[in-house]
Amino acid sequence: MAVSDHTKGGLPPRAGGLPPEEIIFGRSAAMISIRQKVQKVLATDVPILIQGENGTGKGLLAQYIHSRSALSPGAFVKVNCAAIPGALLESELFGYEKGSFTDANTSKPGYVEMAHRGTLFLDEIADLDLNLQAKVLQLLQDGYFSRIGDKQERRAETRIICATNRDLQTEIEAGRFRQDLFYRINVISINLPGLRERREDIALLAAYFLKQLNTRFERDTPTFSEENIESLSCREWRGNIRELEHVVARYAILGSLDTAEPAPRRSSAAPFRVVLDGTIPLKRIAKQAVREMEGNLILNALRENKWNRRKAALALSISYRALIYKIREAGLSPKNSRKAPQEQVPRDKASLA
Ligand SMILES: Nc1ncnc2c1ncn2[C@@H]1O[C@H](COP(=O)(O)OP(=O)(O)OP(=O)(O)O)[C@@H](O)[C@H]1O
Ligand SMILES: [Mg+2]
Repeated sequence: MAVSDHTKGGLPPRAGGLPPEEIIFGRSAAMISIRQKVQKVLATDVPILIQGENGTGKGLLAQYIHSRSALSPGAFVKVNCAAIPGALLESELFGYEKGSFTDANTSKPGYVEMAHRGTLFLDEIADLDLNLQAKVLQLLQDGYFSRIGDKQERRAETRIICATNRDLQTEIEAGRFRQDLFYRINVISINLPGLRERREDIALLAAYFLKQLNTRFERDTPTFSEENIESLSCREWRGNIRELEHVVARYAILGSLDTAEPAPRRSSAAPFRVVLDGTIPLKRIAKQAVREMEGNLILNALRENKWNRRKAALALSISYRALIYKIREAGLSPKNSRKAPQEQVPRDKASLA
């Protein structure tokens, strides 16, 4: 499988190809439905648009789709549209004829030709300039393109997979992305969830990465403790699976989970005090623990939505009014949100005495 790649910095490529399917898709409801959608498109060659935050696995999914599709004997050609400047990208994509520009000493096929009967993966498609968007649109419409400096039209049969972490609707409204191209690339659209939306997959992925990394680094770092998994499950994972992979790599090398982002304090370790008569008020403790957990979740949702309370309410599947009530109850505000809720002064001090 020929691969043209302009990857970002990070860990060296893993040996042994793609992770197994159960790792790629995991067990979360969101990924199970993506898996079902993907199964249905494998037999076709329709364009696919993969959207998702950085590190959610867009590139990996594109590779997976190619490797399981009827086009897998052909090449998987990855082009990072953000990494190559516009003028150069045109010649890289479509190729050129000898003499078509100063440095064109020979003729050269482009990525589109290389992807004939294979898959062309246009990563970071939102960064494609408008001139090139028009050319890609033509390719999608009828499969025809020309090398620079060549009058002859050529045809490429290729599946085009595009990926982006930007909101293409916003790009269209801002005049940076062609609506007609959007319709063409968006025949099948896959939205990869952030890792925090599929927390049930974190333990599975972490164990997989650790096994891989132990092999790669020739280490024998023991598997994660329950506490480790709990700590991993609570994080925000702004960098998604890539960040998890790096945290696990650090763990494999250093043997600890120390990161710049401390894990939230476990609610069981909260400073409950025994009441004066020596009994342990279990009901109150449980109530407070639930309140703390709820406060943490609300705080996360607010931060993730930049303190837009309507969006946060939607993310939490509660009404706007209920969220406002809970924010007041937990004493949350953007100013004090740096503190975890359990570190704030509890309102109901009497119940903790
Ligand atoms: N489901 C998965 N199972 C195992 N590893 C994964 C999975 N998804 C992603 N990864 C790994 O996480 C890292 C990031 O994945 P990938 O580069 O595909 O994400 P991306 O969405 O394309 O990110 P970016 O937007 O930054 O380009 C890679 O090392 C990839 O192998
Ligand atoms: Mg990518």
